[in-house]
Amino acid sequence: MEPAGALVVFLFMAMQILFGSVHAHGGSRVAGPLSFSDRILGMQHELEMAAASPAVYSSPSSPQAGGSNSRVYRVTEYGADPTGKRDSTGALLAAMSAAIRGPSDGFLMDGIVNYDGARISLEGGSYLISRPLRFPSGGAGNLVIHGGTLRASDDFPTVGFLIDLSAPATKAAASSSYNYEYITLRDLMLDSNFRGGGVFVPNSLRISIDNCYIAHFSTEGISVHGGHETYIRNSFLGQHITAGSDPGERKFSGTAINLMGNDNAVTDVVIFSAAVGVMISGQANTLSGVHCYNKAAGFGGTGIYLKLPENTQTRIVNCYLDYTGIVAEDPVQLDIVDSFFYGDAYVTLKSINGVVNGVNIVNNMFSGSNKGVDIVRLDQSNGPFIRVDQVVVDRNNVVGMRLRSTVARGFARGNGTSWTVDFGPVLLFPNRLNHVQYSLSTSGGGLFPRHCLRNTSENRVVVESDVAVPASVYVTVDQGGK
Ligand SMILES: *[C@@H]1O[C@H](CO)[C@@H](O)[C@H](O)[C@H]1NC(C)=O
Ligand SMILES: *[C@@H]1O[C@H](CO)[C@@H](O)[C@H](O)[C@H]1NC(C)=O
Repeated sequence: MEPAGALVVFLFMAMQILFGSVHAHGGSRVAGPLSFSDRILGMQHELEMAAASPAVYSSPSSPQAGGSNSRVYRVTEYGADPTGKRDSTGALLAAMSAAIRGPSDGFLMDGIVNYDGARISLEGGSYLISRPLRFPSGGAGNLVIHGGTLRASDDFPTVGFLIDLSAPATKAAASSSYNYEYITLRDLMLDSNFRGGGVFVPNSLRISIDNCYIAHFSTEGISVHGGHETYIRNSFLGQHITAGSDPGERKFSGTAINLMGNDNAVTDVVIFSAAVGVMISGQANTLSGVHCYNKAAGFGGTGIYLKLPENTQTRIVNCYLDYTGIVAEDPVQLDIVDSFFYGDAYVTLKSINGVVNGVNIVNNMFSGSNKGVDIVRLDQSNGPFIRVDQVVVDRNNVVGMRLRSTVARGFARGNGTSWTVDFGPVLLFPNRLNHVQYSLSTSGGGLFPRHCLRNTSENRVVVESDVAVPASVYVTVDQGGK
């Protein structure tokens, strides 16, 4: 390395250290930060290493690893069998180790070594593995694993994941509060062979899972625990490979995507078989363009399950729920908008402690088969919703299902002293009218009757007049607010 270049890198890394903790977002540190001088010394050491050997590829089986300056670690050069016959676990782990020992360039987050986009290439092959693939140490970032198929062997541990971003116990870079940052898993088919799961992402930051096909999981396709900003996009997940109407659908199990962390995004993803499509128990996640036909609601499946009562903070936008619905436990801050529900799919609001607040279910399309299925249902088996505020279920269009809403209009017409408009069949919450407005219109022979709103119980609006008149009464009700 040129001395001038080294100086620039050194200054850059020093700035990373000085300002790194300012940018840290959430999460507490596991270990106390190293002192400033320790870290500078550590970096000097690393710079010397890099200067001494610009390309450190020390795999015994393949010192070249695709050329002296290449940072592509081709797994066949470490002995992996691209035909998928022989067990390639050791070879793939060797390629991953080589990448972690390879050249690096400062840090991303403090303590996360920047590998400059080094790639572990599966070279379009299929590899049998008998153990989860883990990096030998944590604290790594800016690495790519891409381009091939991984298949679990018949003795793969059923609790494991094909790719596992756990940091080993002997994690060297204990100065980072995250295991990994900016690891990209791209263009991969992951076949769990009905033994365990696809990808495990614990306590990591900015992990990208892009254009992956994850099948045959028995537990979870992708499991995110803690950390934040795992982005899952343009991917296909299914326990069984099917295109719908599968004779075994009743038996589908497992969860395609389990988000137990915050600030993740699932975009443009199809989930074609699993008991649960997306399970969410962390905040501030967003789903967009997700098509779930994983298991019909009638067979006990759920498309999207929001299991974070009173702290939902989830946006579901432009999704396609296909014979399978959405369940939200005590939702507080939930958007379900611009989505399509097909095959009598519906939304369930499930009471845990009776709270529903800040929920918008608007501008969706619902299509069913005239079985009288409500577009939104309340599950009050644990008790009724008692704290209801800022709930808007409105402007959805419905074909072949039963409209449910928190806002409604109606009218009654007759000659007499009492007019009743019953909103029971359309309002979502029983016996709850927060706002009522009415107008009484009569052309009755010069009479100006006195009239008033008499009763609003059981979602029925009763208007009475002092004298009998032929009149129409128009009513607007809203049960969303306090
Ligand atoms: C309305 O009812 C009253 C009696 O209750 C009757 O005298 C009147 O003619 C009725 N008006 C109309 C328009 O039917
Ligand atoms: C309102 O109507 C309900 C029946 O729907 C009745 O039980 C209740 O007594 C009425 N309240 C008043 C004030 O008339």
